[in-house]
Amino acid sequence: MPDATEPRSPIGTSPEWEALRAHHAEVAPRHLRDLLVEPGRLEAMTLDLPGIHADLSKHRATPDTLRLLAEVAERAGLRERIDAMFRGDAINTTEGRSVLHVALRAPRGEVIRVDGRDVVADVHEVLDRMRDAARRIRDGEWRGATGQPIRAIVNIGIGGSDLGPAMVVEALRTRTDPDRIHRFVSNVDGADIDWALRDLDPATTLFIVASKTFTTVETLTNARTARRWLVDALGEDAVARHFLALSTNEAEVVEFGIEPANMFGFWDWVGGRYSVGSAIGLSVMLAIGPDGFDELLAGFRAVDEHLRDAPFERNLPVLMGLLGVWYVNLFGASSHAVLPYAQELSRFPAYLQQLEMESNGKSVTLDGQRVGWSTGPVVWGEPGTNGQHAFFQLLHQGTVLVPADFIGVVEPNHPLGHHHDLLVANLLAQTEALAAGRTAAAVRAEGVPEALVPHKVFEGNRPTTTLLCDRLDPRTLGSLIALYEHKVLTQSVVWGINAFDQWGVELGKALATRIGPELDPASTVDPDAAHDPSTAALVRRYRSRTRP
Ligand code: F6P
Repeated sequence: MPDATEPRSPIGTSPEWEALRAHHAEVAPRHLRDLLVEPGRLEAMTLDLPGIHADLSKHRATPDTLRLLAEVAERAGLRERIDAMFRGDAINTTEGRSVLHVALRAPRGEVIRVDGRDVVADVHEVLDRMRDAARRIRDGEWRGATGQPIRAIVNIGIGGSDLGPAMVVEALRTRTDPDRIHRFVSNVDGADIDWALRDLDPATTLFIVASKTFTTVETLTNARTARRWLVDALGEDAVARHFLALSTNEAEVVEFGIEPANMFGFWDWVGGRYSVGSAIGLSVMLAIGPDGFDELLAGFRAVDEHLRDAPFERNLPVLMGLLGVWYVNLFGASSHAVLPYAQELSRFPAYLQQLEMESNGKSVTLDGQRVGWSTGPVVWGEPGTNGQHAFFQLLHQGTVLVPADFIGVVEPNHPLGHHHDLLVANLLAQTEALAAGRTAAAVRAEGVPEALVPHKVFEGNRPTTTLLCDRLDPRTLGSLIALYEHKVLTQSVVWGINAFDQWGVELGKALATRIGPELDPASTVDPDAAHDPSTAALVRRYRSRTRP
């Protein structure tokens, strides 16, 4: 059996890639207007997962494309890599770690071993403790230092320790108790925590310090500020009733002053950007309740099983990943838009930016060679219909190709049906217009003056995926997240890169630590000796400030 970690991107070197390239030469000149009406296309290019209907037919591809892409994935060793991930092999080779976010949603009783230890049992032990804490906090049994129940929950974390829970709590906000406030503080900018705490009462506020490493400077700075705010009002002893920690690093948690009984652990085989189903999701569980959290995990699990069981040609996360490869490596696309037509998903694009770009923003292969092909695109987006009045002009008539995911829901979480019809009409109209465009003949037929005709022509042929969800509930949201997680895995395997490390964020951290002390007006460091002329001048300018 081939080694699952063996780097072997098929790009440019395999017969499967050559077949795909030849096929691309045939398909690329064709227009979606013609492709869309081909018989059998809809059946071949739509898929149904529980709660999510996926329409891939508005892609510049044919059913043959999906087959050829699936063959590329087979050649890349995707099947072996998926199996290796579920087995707990150390597929994060640069850090020597397993990649087991799938174990976070494995059912009780399933066994996945890492170094001989059953990690699923560990997962459920922590989930049980989280459920117990969530129940006590939500029921008011958990009291603050002055005997009052908790009214505000402030999650302090950054990156994966913020974006996941913040996105999910926002997405499921209609399921949260209106009497409880949920806030997220991430930025080291004091404006963030200063504003978050402005109207909170220390006696009824619970802080959740979320950090896998418990060494992240932003999070610890904010946590110390929060601690001071609490202790100034209620005294040192209050910390035990007002601080919880979510981390893999018990020693640092204790060092900070949070007792192990108030800590919920996870493990180094959970990547930060894959961690919302772990203890990092505690603020989600507090917001939507333990049953809601179980539903979220069930949604993840449904897609995990689909990834493992479905043939690649009918495997939605695999196809989403492969279509991304198709556009990046054969059409030269360098960005990908995610456009949720659901206001509650307003943070989903930001969440996906970390998931996709921190994972696949790499330029060396697993064995450390410079890649000879493009890898992860820029991921961006905003909810519709807002985006329509901002950047859709470029999507329709700009010179760059931006494949886009449109995410909609059939049943809204509000009673304003006429708003919802209008919202969904916009989603459908946009995807239809992006595909079909508007020809010069059609523009002329409307009596448009000749000088304006070129301005009013839409080339069309702009590809989109439509994910139409039955409703936005915890289960569907879990499935949506898992779809993108496994999309990322698929792409990383084809590109031959490691999706699970993030060395690229280390340099900035190290440099900021060095410059910090130099900003003190009393610093004796000569900026000109330490930095380039631009940075040195900026350091001097900041140093010369007077602060009240
Ligand atoms: O941005 C780098 C990173 O390591 C992310 O991968 C991670 O999600 C984030 O920092 C926060 O890290 P931690 O949870 O250890 O505070």
